[in-house]
Amino acid sequence: MLIGNKINLKIMEKKDMPLVKDWVNNIDFIGDFEPITQETLTEIEKQYESLTEGQWFFIEKKDGTKIGYVAHYLTGSKQTEIGYALHPNERSKGHGTEAIQILLDYLFLSKSIKRIQAKINPNNIGSQRVLEKAGFVKEGILRKSFYSRGEWRDTAIFSVLREEWKEPKILTKANI
Ligand SMILES: CC(C)(COP(=O)(O)OP(=O)(O)OC[C@H]1O[C@@H](n2cnc3c(N)ncnc32)[C@H](O)[C@@H]1OP(=O)(O)O)[C@@H](O)C(=O)NCCC(=O)NCCS
Repeated sequence: MLIGNKINLKIMEKKDMPLVKDWVNNIDFIGDFEPITQETLTEIEKQYESLTEGQWFFIEKKDGTKIGYVAHYLTGSKQTEIGYALHPNERSKGHGTEAIQILLDYLFLSKSIKRIQAKINPNNIGSQRVLEKAGFVKEGILRKSFYSRGEWRDTAIFSVLREEWKEPKILTKANI
């Protein structure tokens, strides 16, 4: 468990995949910007099992309630990338920002990586703000790079370098 101030990150197990399936198949949960998908439990379990250099974490409140997820994984070009989503009732309470800060602390403390990236829909202002608050900067736009909800859409790419992160913000000596 990665211990934060108001939330913790708990590594997911295969037995947790039914809850993940319910979340990712729920349009309210994925929000207004992510592509719509409908996936079976078997498909989600396969994705979980094929993660060789990545991890999925629940975002949990201090009472253990599961309120969302953050994940890191390697892209096809071997870039460390993150993804995240919170239950609609738990948004705009600072939990997204804290979850990303914990994940960055964990990744930079545990792996010798130089750079972490995130790709978002440029209209997703909430997602842009949490990245900026965690120290990411916008690198640019990949024009018409993914098909979602009936249209080819742009992707905004953000990154944070180890030297910009500098030091742990949440996983300090008190809780690791
Ligand atoms: C994107 C998401 C993770 C943000 O997490 P969150 O916990 O709601 O964000 P926070 O409470 O930490 O807010 C961080 C900042 O973003 C701002 N913000 C959050 N949601 C916003 C929105 N919808 N519109 C504008 N600003 C928003 C907050 O005001 C805050 O800014 P401030 O500190 O300057 O006031 C969450 O809204 C979510 O799960 N959305 C649906 C799924 C999704 O889009 N995932 C990302 C895919 S790339």
